[in-house]
Amino acid sequence: MPGAIYAEGLVKTFGDVRALDGVDLDVPEGTVLGMLGPNGAGKTTAVRVLTTLLRPDRGKAEVAGIDVLAHPDKVRRSIGLSGQFAAVDEYLTGRENLTMVGQLYQMSGRDAKRRAAELLERFHLNDAADRTAKTYSGGMRRRLDLAAALVVSPPVMFMDEPTTGLDPRNRQALWDVIQELVAGGTTLLLTTQYLEEADRLAHDICVVDHGKVIARGTSDQLKARTGGERVEVVVHAPEHLTVADEVLRGFAKGEGTVEPHIRKLTIPVAGGAKLLAEVIRELDVRGVEIDDIGLRRPTLDDVFIALTGHTAESADGDGAGGGDGGGGAAGTERSGTTGDGRPASAAGHRKEGVR
Ligand SMILES: Nc1ncnc2c1ncn2[C@@H]1O[C@H](COP(=O)(O)OP(=O)(O)OP(=O)(O)O)[C@@H](O)[C@H]1O
Ligand SMILES: [Mg+2]
Repeated sequence: MPGAIYAEGLVKTFGDVRALDGVDLDVPEGTVLGMLGPNGAGKTTAVRVLTTLLRPDRGKAEVAGIDVLAHPDKVRRSIGLSGQFAAVDEYLTGRENLTMVGQLYQMSGRDAKRRAAELLERFHLNDAADRTAKTYSGGMRRRLDLAAALVVSPPVMFMDEPTTGLDPRNRQALWDVIQELVAGGTTLLLTTQYLEEADRLAHDICVVDHGKVIARGTSDQLKARTGGERVEVVVHAPEHLTVADEVLRGFAKGEGTVEPHIRKLTIPVAGGAKLLAEVIRELDVRGVEIDDIGLRRPTLDDVFIALTGHTAESADGDGAGGGDGGGGAAGTERSGTTGDGRPASAAGHRKEGVR
């Protein structure tokens, strides 16, 4: 049985650009799919097709078991969307924006107000709640938009780069909300360039580049594809890079990388901590002074580089890009989902017109 989000052979071209070039997706109910890809990969286009805002040239899609092309109105009633660009009413206050969404969804005035207050608190917008949104900073708008997407809870939710532009505290707040949503049974498709975020939140990850899904699997499966552990060395002085590189090649189980500007060398290895000790000894014998050395598992960054030949952040593209990439800090644990699963979603039709 197809999952709560299902797509087969989606193609969408804009002139010469094949924004989607045969995308298949299948997201089981109650799970999170993290869609990773560099700027211009086709993430937003995929979200727009799945949320009925854009018709594909070819292919089919179902959301919550409903055919997206045949019954867009029904699909819209079953989904929530937080788009890449915040869509809030500038002339209303934060509180009014949220209350209005609740009322659009037929909540009573009192319920809408209560929900608005909860969300304002949750996204640390209390102090600004009664100011018009046009006085908000970029990050505050983003948070208000996300809060608006969470006023009611639909079974299927789409979030396009939800944490871009959020500070760490608010990113964490959103992650908590997402985990509650999923614990409550919501199916979520989340696009992100923050590899750490996909690592943290997604049950499955698909990597998109040039309109194609180029890899999919769990975070661990994707990491396994790039091989095992890595040794990272930061040498004290740039002139030590060449010798260190020579030493490391003797231990490497594949191509390594050198980042001269930060005096860092990375090699794939097999052998764990024992090998690390040998590397340190050998570097010492050869007179290489090191500032830092460590053993780490591959990150999604490594996966990304292996798959696309570039990092998520350095990809060519037309978008604003940026982002911290999350990189090395990411653990692989899947945080336990707790909470009442109550908060949720938004209006598929709230954001953009169908083109
Ligand atoms: N309405 C449009 N008209 C013309 N080209 C478009 C349109 N929408 C998207 N594209 C092109 O399709 C490609 C995919 O764009 P899309 O917005 O889906 O990328 P993305 O993965 O969301 O990127 P980002 O990370 O920058 O948000 C890009 O080359 C983009 O320029
Ligand atoms: Mg996008």
